[in-house]
Amino acid sequence: MKISVLGAGHIGLSTSLSFAHFGHEVLVLDVDSEKIALLSDAKTQIFEPGLEPLLKNSLLQNKISFSTDYGKIADFSDLIFICIGTPTRPGKGCDLTAIDLALDSLIATKMKNLVVVIKSTVPPGTTAHYQQKFQNFHFVSSPEFLREGQALQDAIHPDRVVVGGSSKRAVHILKELYRPFLKSESDFIEMDSTSAELSKYAANSFLAARISLINEFSVLCEKFGADIESVATALGKDHRIGPHFLKAGIGYGGSCFPKDIEALIYFSHAHETETPLLKAVQMVNENQIQRFIQKIKNSFAFQESKLLTLWGVAFKPETNDIREAPSLKIVEALLLDGFSLQIYDPVSNREFESHFKMHPQLNQISFFDDKMQALKNSSALAILTEWNEFRLVSLEEIQVALKNIIIFDGRNLFSKQVTSKNSRFYHGIGIRPFE
Ligand code: UDX
Repeated sequence: MKISVLGAGHIGLSTSLSFAHFGHEVLVLDVDSEKIALLSDAKTQIFEPGLEPLLKNSLLQNKISFSTDYGKIADFSDLIFICIGTPTRPGKGCDLTAIDLALDSLIATKMKNLVVVIKSTVPPGTTAHYQQKFQNFHFVSSPEFLREGQALQDAIHPDRVVVGGSSKRAVHILKELYRPFLKSESDFIEMDSTSAELSKYAANSFLAARISLINEFSVLCEKFGADIESVATALGKDHRIGPHFLKAGIGYGGSCFPKDIEALIYFSHAHETETPLLKAVQMVNENQIQRFIQKIKNSFAFQESKLLTLWGVAFKPETNDIREAPSLKIVEALLLDGFSLQIYDPVSNREFESHFKMHPQLNQISFFDDKMQALKNSSALAILTEWNEFRLVSLEEIQVALKNIIIFDGRNLFSKQVTSKNSRFYHGIGIRPFE
């Protein structure tokens, strides 16, 4: 098939490459000319395992091409995927402006009978609204569930493909397209478009709620002297619950959970419906970040020099994405409190530096290319992202490198190495104090 994909971000690119991988011809459009030029040269701004090699290969085989010219769609295909960002604006909810502009460009091509698949996360009722407005097109909602860091794997082998809409033609085309992607036909799930849109919000809300629940129990563990890792293991063995998304930490971040939950709370409220559980999920998440900040501040309360090393600033490992990362709030609060920070992240230093480039206290941050160098002269270490390379270092090695030996382990990477000798220097999340 010939497929056009609008939007060359994480989802657009991974989706396009998954189609190219299965032999389809893909035209990717984006308004960002710099991004398009880089991609045409087989380079990406995103750090995502496997992405660049597959991109290079697909370009070599002429399976993918990039352009800023929406007019090209007219000669290319009538199957269009919309993978355009829908940011949540404070006090305004989900912003659909970029999708609206893209649809205007599709109208301008004067094409009829286009099958338009909305992969972007949009509020319930959006696809039905577009269908009503643009009756020449066949709209379906097919939300994307891929995770950063595993985006290609998830795009090529999705757990399920959800398709919602009333156009039989569109559903038939998507069924054929996705047949080789799925293990079983029952993984292709048909429904109405609003249910499809809500399926995406439900998945993200459910996962975020699990994280907030385990984080709330981490507070109880600290209070009553219990161990969250043991509690999570016991919980995860219940086959009705399962072991995933039960890792206590410093709260969820990223480009999806915070934005989608905020958008759904806002949208529901605007339609006179409250979502108290989602508000609680959000509040627990915020508290978890603030608790971590407070622990650090308390430890330094009587110290003159406040020099702290941070390992990891990406919102999770295997990505250079720092959007809504807990690190942003942690760094902001510590800078305000007079801390100097030595930061090391395997791939996100540049993104982080650029985010803080206008910050009046930028001079309090130094970036390091080596994690052990970043510990030099520092009083303490805070671990914010669970990069695998941190697991290769022992607690002892860190203790030797640090001046005052305090470790704030926001991801419980070293909780198993805590002994009676080092426990008083170690602050994990929901970890039982050593007796
Ligand atoms: C998420 C959804 O998983 C994906 O289906 C959707 O399409 C987009 O949003 P992503 O944002 O890439 O994907 O990351 P995910 O792996 O879900 O992690 C989100 C956040 O939760 C991260 O900050 C992570 O550190 C945190 N997390 C995750 C925990 O704190 N504990 C866990 O047990 C799992």
